[in-house]
Amino acid sequence: MPQTKSLYTQELSDMREKMSTVKNIVVIGAGLMGAGIAQVSIQSGYSVTLVDIKQEYIDKGIKSILKGLGRLEQKGKLGEGVTAQSLVDKIRQTTELADAVKDADIVIEAVIENLKIKQSVFKTCDENAPSHCILATNTSSMSITNITEVTKHPERCVGVHFFNPVPLMSLVEVIKGDKTSEETMNIAKEWVANLPCRVPRYVPFVLKDRPGFIANRMIAPGFVLMNWAFDEAASKGISYEALNADTMKPGSPMGFLELGDYVGHDTYLHINEYYAKTLSPDFTPGLAYKKLVADGKYGRKSGQGFFDWTQGRPKLNADVKAGILSAELLDAIEANEGCRLLEEGVVEHWEVIDNTMKAGFNRPGVMQDAVEHYEKWSQMLEDIAAKIGKEYLKPCEMLSSGKFRDLK
Ligand SMILES: NC(=O)c1ccc[n+]([C@@H]2O[C@H](COP(=O)([O-])OP(=O)(O)OC[C@H]3O[C@@H](n4cnc5c(N)ncnc54)[C@H](O)[C@@H]3O)[C@@H](O)[C@H]2O)c1
Repeated sequence: MPQTKSLYTQELSDMREKMSTVKNIVVIGAGLMGAGIAQVSIQSGYSVTLVDIKQEYIDKGIKSILKGLGRLEQKGKLGEGVTAQSLVDKIRQTTELADAVKDADIVIEAVIENLKIKQSVFKTCDENAPSHCILATNTSSMSITNITEVTKHPERCVGVHFFNPVPLMSLVEVIKGDKTSEETMNIAKEWVANLPCRVPRYVPFVLKDRPGFIANRMIAPGFVLMNWAFDEAASKGISYEALNADTMKPGSPMGFLELGDYVGHDTYLHINEYYAKTLSPDFTPGLAYKKLVADGKYGRKSGQGFFDWTQGRPKLNADVKAGILSAELLDAIEANEGCRLLEEGVVEHWEVIDNTMKAGFNRPGVMQDAVEHYEKWSQMLEDIAAKIGKEYLKPCEMLSSGKFRDLK
C-alpha cells in the first residue's frame, strides 16, 4: 500500500506487537455471512466467539456451521481425528457483545445492512475491546468511514468484505476507510489470507472508500444500459429471452437477465437506488424494472422474475437475439468502470481488477482485452451514451486515452 501514509503512533506499534499472535476472533451476527466467517476461522485454529442478539439466531448459525464442516468431514478434509462437532464445540456463543469483545484481537461485524445498527455495534466494541483490537465490518455497500466515525479509533477500523459462501469464495476485499492505518490494513490481510478455501484466497486492498469497492462496482454500470434496454423491450414487444441472448457470448454461463433472476431483483433494485444517490442519477431504475419488483417478480427466490423458475432453471434460447445491444458493449462498460477505479485511486493497477473479477465471479476480467480494444470500445461508449442519453456511459479519460495501459 505504498501511497497511504502510515499513522504510526505508539499505540499502533503496541498493536503490531500484540498482533504478532492474533488469537481471538469475535464474529458479530450469526447469519449467512457471520456463520461462514466463524466456520473458516475455527477451522484455522483461532479461538472464535459468535455473537447475536438472540440465542435462537446463534443456534441457527451453529447449525449451518455444523452442516458446512460436516461436508468437509465426510470428504476427509478436516484432518486426522478432527470432527465437525469437535470444532463447533470450541466456538464460544454469547448475546453479550460488550463482554464478548473484552479479549478480542479482531472483531468482524456481520450484522444486517443497517447503518444505525452497525454504528451502535462499533461504538460498543470501541468502548469495550482492548486497545490493540482491530474492528472490521463486512458491509457490502456502506461507507467504512461512515460506519466507523462513531469510534474513537477509526485508524483501527477497516472493511473486510467476504463473498458468499465464505468457505467457497476466495475473494476478500480489504477496504481502507479515510482514517484506516496501513498497519490495520496489513493485519486484516494477514488474518484472511490464510483462511481455508477450496482455492487460495485473493485479498486485494481497496485503497479508497468508494461505493461497491472493486468487484460489485465493476458490474454496477451494466445496469445503466440494461435499465434502458428493459424499457425498450417492454415498449417494443421484444422478448426478455431475446434480450438475454443479446448479453451472451460463447461460453457465457448465464445472460444478464438470467443472472439477475438468480441473484434477486429486490436486491439489485435496492443497490441501484443506492448507486443513483452515490455515483450518478443515471443508475435510477427504469419503469419496467421497478414494475418487475413491485409485482413481486424477484427471480428464482419468488419463482418468477424475467423468467419462470417454478420448474427449476429456465431453458432459454441463446440463438435468437434482439439485436439492440451486445456482450461486447457490456465489456466496454465494465472496462470503463475499471478505468474509473484507477482514476479515483481505488486500485493502482488494472491487473488487480482482473484478478478480483476472477476470484469474485469466476470469469476473466475485461481489462486485459481493453488493452487491445480500448479505442473501439471508447467509440462504442460515446455512441451508446448519446443514443440513450446516459452521460455516465461516456468513456472516461483513462480509457479513451489508453493511459490505463501504463498501470498494469
Ligand atoms: N449475503 C451476502 O451475500 C453478503 C455478501 C457480502 C457481504 N454481506 C454483508 O454481510 C452482512 C451480513 O449479511 P448476512 O447476509 O449474513 O445477513 P443475515 O440477515 O443472514 O444475518 C445478520 C445477522 O445479524 C444479526 N444481528 C442483527 N443485529 C445485531 C446486533 N445488534 N448484534 C448482533 N447481531 C445482530 C441478525 O440477528 C442476523 O442473525 C451485511 O452487512 C451484508 O451486507 C452479505
